[in-house]
Amino acid sequence: MAQEVRGVIAPGRNEPVRVETIVVPDPGPGEAVVQIQACGVCHTDLHYKQGGINDDFPFLLGHEAAGIVESVGEGVTDVAPGDFVILNWRAVCGNCRACLRGRPWYCFNTHNAKQKMTLTDGTELSPALGIGAFAEKTLVAAGQCTKVDPAVSPAVAGLLGCGVMAGIGAAINTGNVGRGDTVAVIGCGGVGDAAIAGANLAGAAKIIAVDIDDRKLTTARTMGATHTVNSKETDPVAAIQELTGGFGADVVIEAVGRPETYKQAFYARDLAGTVVLVGVPTPDMKLELPLIDVFGRGGSLKSSWYGDCLPSRDFPMLIDLHLQGRLDLAKFVTETIQLDEVEQAFERMHGGDVLRSVVVF
Ligand code: APR
Ligand code: ZN
Ligand code: ZN
Repeated sequence: MAQEVRGVIAPGRNEPVRVETIVVPDPGPGEAVVQIQACGVCHTDLHYKQGGINDDFPFLLGHEAAGIVESVGEGVTDVAPGDFVILNWRAVCGNCRACLRGRPWYCFNTHNAKQKMTLTDGTELSPALGIGAFAEKTLVAAGQCTKVDPAVSPAVAGLLGCGVMAGIGAAINTGNVGRGDTVAVIGCGGVGDAAIAGANLAGAAKIIAVDIDDRKLTTARTMGATHTVNSKETDPVAAIQELTGGFGADVVIEAVGRPETYKQAFYARDLAGTVVLVGVPTPDMKLELPLIDVFGRGGSLKSSWYGDCLPSRDFPMLIDLHLQGRLDLAKFVTETIQLDEVEQAFERMHGGDVLRSVVVF
């Protein structure tokens, strides 16, 4: 029997979001229905609402979520009703080129539920990132459910489903930050702060936070930054070089997604250092760099999608570290809100006071 629940939809380009009744089908083969306990508000949800991702309105928003598996369809063996899970948007397929080469964190064939959730009049919904979790229940592919220790708060756990994982993974998976490394992080929002926390966890000797907003730099310190640079007042490249014996940082993580900050990252790294781009640019942006510098400075220029995470490997491990008191993920939850407050949370994103607003059910 399909169920009716409340969910937040984006009805059309730039229209305010609203709470509607959503019809959630019973799980088919390989699918699961999850009762959502918490779901964070991410910039990507705002981009969907603005029409910046695609035009498949109406969207069922929300994708940084945790909850309890309510029911599973035929053939599902990895999760069972009652399991506490974080939803992921990389449900590794096991069969694509990347998976077969043993690099499942690049899986090109991530799967989602086959059936559609709808409005009561039958209008099909497009779930954000194949999840759609600003809803009391959602239908996903069972592989999108990653079991973790249920002792963790759902509001904290859900954040690992997207932005916080992207940042931590940019440092520990993509950047390969190791003990004793010098690291600089440009842009200290939720993603950059998570990169700082990741670098700290990995044992970086020096973590330099760069932002144009002093409030962000204050928060960055609480995440593990050892030095801060306000790049509105100080040239960040010179400052990072000065803090690293004149050399530049071993790993520079760009968590803004703009050409000018990417260039700063490029020049602020040591010879043969690593640049990790985790900020998401817009399609119109162009980068211009002297090719001789790209050649002459060696090292690696990488981008990090979803922190190159493997949910089955990274989510339970990071939750365990959190529960042991070794990774404070609770700091990323600035406020908890109700389902009908998502629109206001979008507005607060621009104010710069909020790392994450999290809808709790
Ligand atoms: N130099 C340094 N910092 C900057 C600059 C700049 N030119 N412009 C903006 N910032 C800072 C902001 O002050 C803010 O602290 O970058 C931070 C961006 O943080 P948020 O807006 O909270 O975004 P976040 O959720 O961290 O995501 C960062 O990653 O996932 C992507 O789409 C996301 O591109 C975005 C990026
Ligand atoms: Zn695959
Ligand atoms: Zn997100």
